[in-house]
Amino acid sequence: MIKIAPSILASDFSRLGEEVRMIEEAGADYVHIDVMDGRFVPNITVGPPVVLAVRKITNMVLDVHLMIVEPDKHIKSFIDAGADIVCIHQEATVHLERNIQYIKSLGAKAAVSLNPATDIDTLKYVLPDLDMVLIMSVNPGFGGQKYIKFCTEKIRSLRKMADAMNPGLDIEVDGGITLDNISEVVAAGANVIVAGSSIYKSKNPAKTIKKMREMTD
Ligand code: DX5
Ligand code: ZN
Repeated sequence: MIKIAPSILASDFSRLGEEVRMIEEAGADYVHIDVMDGRFVPNITVGPPVVLAVRKITNMVLDVHLMIVEPDKHIKSFIDAGADIVCIHQEATVHLERNIQYIKSLGAKAAVSLNPATDIDTLKYVLPDLDMVLIMSVNPGFGGQKYIKFCTEKIRSLRKMADAMNPGLDIEVDGGITLDNISEVVAAGANVIVAGSSIYKSKNPAKTIKKMREMTD
């Protein structure tokens, strides 16, 4: 069964607590927290204090997506704040292997994200060590963008690679996921689905989450 990870980037930050409780009641599995630094991506969002605030009010898995340069400087603060999964970008660090081991040594699950144009082969040697790979299906930096079509093929190739090297690998897809393309990405091999706008901006988020499950079960 897939995991659904609503991105709070699309939520109403003035009511963050209620927005998190709402998706928990609606049956979401993870809370996806998008951390942007204004350097790796053009936008700036939230830091460890917000992760801590969310940690205090939910038992859902906190899936922290770090779109920041020099992630090693901040990994510990996010884990101390309650991150369960820490995802760093392949493009944002020179020492990927070291950072993966660092995340794991601090007791969190290690994930690496790839921008749309980055080849999955860049992960070949570290794949056995990873808990999850996040395939960005938009260029990171903003919610509400359109799904980039070739990412479906990328997910399919990654699932094939994982079958051979790390069969338990979670494949997360992030960006532009809606009820219109969720079946396609799950059929290709994704099993963790990030959705910001399509959940938080829908009329009935709980119904949307339910539909996402029905369409992929
Ligand atoms: C984009 C973020 C995404 C984003 C997804 O840089 O990583 O998690 O919030 O938002 P939607 O689902 O609206 O594309
Ligand atoms: Zn994200």
